Amino acid sequence: MDKKPKLSTEPYKGVRDFYPEDMAIQNYIFDVWRKTAESFGYVEYGASPLESTELYKAKSGEEIVNEQTYSFKDRGDRDVTLRPEMTPTVARMIAGKRREMKFPQRWFSIPNLFRYERPQRGRLREHFQLNCDMFGVAGIEAEVEMISLAYQIMKNFGISDDKFEIRINSRKLLQHKIESKLKNKEFYQKALKLIDKKSKIKNFDEEWALLSDQPYLIDETLNNSLEETFISLRKKGIVNAIYDGEIGRGFDYYTDTVFEIFDKNPLNNRSLFGGGRYDNLLEIFGEEPVPTIGFGIGDVTIRDVLETYNLLPDIKSKTKVAIIPFNQSCFEDADNLASILRLQNINTAVDYSDKKIGDKIAKADKEKISFVVVLGEEEIKTGTYKLKNLATKEEQVFTKETISNLNFLK
Ligand code: HAM
Repeated sequence: MDKKPKLSTEPYKGVRDFYPEDMAIQNYIFDVWRKTAESFGYVEYGASPLESTELYKAKSGEEIVNEQTYSFKDRGDRDVTLRPEMTPTVARMIAGKRREMKFPQRWFSIPNLFRYERPQRGRLREHFQLNCDMFGVAGIEAEVEMISLAYQIMKNFGISDDKFEIRINSRKLLQHKIESKLKNKEFYQKALKLIDKKSKIKNFDEEWALLSDQPYLIDETLNNSLEETFISLRKKGIVNAIYDGEIGRGFDYYTDTVFEIFDKNPLNNRSLFGGGRYDNLLEIFGEEPVPTIGFGIGDVTIRDVLETYNLLPDIKSKTKVAIIPFNQSCFEDADNLASILRLQNINTAVDYSDKKIGDKIAKADKEKISFVVVLGEEEIKTGTYKLKNLATKEEQVFTKETISNLNFLK
């Protein structure tokens, strides 16, 4: 007997397996993301999850690089990191072809990202993130489009305006507001990170006192570009966007507008979207800057929200028809019928088990297959089949000649 300890069936800490039911939900989320991004004219790109570590050292920020990345040396002694975010990668790709590209460019991608975080509700070590970025537009039309796109994603999931809030700030404005309060202007980065974390930490006042002699106070005045952004958003019917002078965002590369979207339900207290303008990131590749704005939305938090509000649709199986042979002697005919249906682009599976007919039908139903065809001696002899809709119990008779009537199954 083998005495080796048994291997765990659990996945590595903080990453997820997607059993078919979860994968179906994941695909639904990706579908909404993809369709909405494409409806705004964004085109899809992709890249490897492996990047050289130096890509993140330049501008992502210390916390991400020192505490949250999965980094290792490869066999050739190169420093490699599993991407914790997509922004440096997309900037690298744009920089690589900047000279031959016509701007503006609208790009999207759905990468999986890896961050060494303490797994908790809304935060895992691997998540998938829709990234939408627009390159080459410096005016606030770009912020308005980006925020409208994020808003439209929420609408397309069926989430009503009263449930979520779009919080917008400007890094430039925040810098202006806090620099005059700091003991030393060089404390700006520290102050920015501190303010960004304000709601999550207990000793904010003590930490602030280290940076400033003045009381902490961020007034509510806006600058022109923020004013205009809000006016344009309102014109588009987006009324749940608010100014939040404490949104700082963790990454160093943001240059001006930053925004996050939150579910107002305290159960889901993590941001759903995070994004902003980063006009200078191409400089790290020695390229002329391109004005850019973008955002990321994660799959973990949005799924929690959809579950909280019971907004996940009843997702049917991609298998449209289960053929249920009466017994083993019907397998060959069942296979032939399946082939004919597949030729019509109808996804079809044959149940080869020796369970009772009723149990096979129940299994198809549980797997969310919408239709079954029970195939016995009678059907084989007459060449007429009954397609049964498991939800409505309706039956439709068809033959090989009338199979094109089943177009609705495609
Ligand atoms: P971020 O704020 O770090 O931004 O992430 C964006 C969203 O991804 C978050 O609001 C959250 O929904 C999700 N997310 C982040 N970390 C985790 C995690 N550990 N577990 C689950 N979900 C997570 C960025 O990553 C920027 N690069 C986005 C961007 C694109 N900015 C401009 N373009």
